[in-house]
Amino acid sequence: MTARKTALIVGASRGLGLALAEEFCTRGWEVIATSRGKASGLDELRARHPGKLEHEHVDIDDLDTVRALHARLDKRKLDVLFVNAGIAKANELTPIDVDEADFLDMMRTNALAPMRVVELFHDQVDAGKGVIAVMSSEIGSIGNANGFWELYSSSKAALNMLLASFHARHPGDRRAVLAVAPGWVRTDMGTQDATLDISDSIPLVVDVVEANAGKPGLRFVDRHGAVLPW
Ligand SMILES: NC(=O)c1ccc[n+]([C@@H]2O[C@H](COP(=O)([O-])OP(=O)(O)OC[C@H]3O[C@@H](n4cnc5c(N)ncnc54)[C@H](OP(=O)(O)O)[C@@H]3O)[C@@H](O)[C@H]2O)c1
Repeated sequence: MTARKTALIVGASRGLGLALAEEFCTRGWEVIATSRGKASGLDELRARHPGKLEHEHVDIDDLDTVRALHARLDKRKLDVLFVNAGIAKANELTPIDVDEADFLDMMRTNALAPMRVVELFHDQVDAGKGVIAVMSSEIGSIGNANGFWELYSSSKAALNMLLASFHARHPGDRRAVLAVAPGWVRTDMGTQDATLDISDSIPLVVDVVEANAGKPGLRFVDRHGAVLPW
């Protein structure tokens, strides 16, 4: 009998992260899903998938809680680490009119904090066929920049750069390292104006993650697996 695969999904209380947790559970994976507070969606998911979902707590902005999670999960082997947590603020503003604190919040939560999670947990991801993924965005592509949500976009571009730098620091690593762009999806962040439903995006995102297992290297990919310009 093959052992069940394990995914750690960081930032899974709602939206895309909760859907990722559900999709991996549905595919028979063991899922460790985190939230920073109470998460009724995860409670319901655990009830629907008995024995498949563990619920952990972490606020990725708080390095002490990230270290504490790492200590609790120290012995766990992961097939997938997916850091999904993110925020969007001041979407329509520019560098001259944004409240500086809003910009810095995004740089911390969307770029620095996810990569601290990757730095701490990457060794637990299977060294042969493991996948390390962060939730980036199509609008984090500098090559395709069009000015949409430019401050948020720049935090995702920073995330991409930190991921690329992480990868460059680990030459010869056989894990797949992915910056994933899920499309514009109807969630609290994506708003009801978005073009995709969660069900149009997340099953494809999980297909891409599964398809990249055993394919070493750094890639910025959309939900169809197509490579995007950095
Ligand atoms: N929706 C889109 O169209 C779209 C497109 C491209 C990329 N993305 C990215 O996809 C990811 C998920 O977005 P979403 O649309 O699902 O947004 P969402 O509905 O606003 O959910 C954001 C998730 O991130 C968590 N989170 C935020 N800050 C956190 C922190 N400091 N520590 C731990 N968890 C934290 C939230 O937890 P709480 O419940 O505790 O707030 C929530 O689970 C984000 O990285 C986002 O940038 C979204």
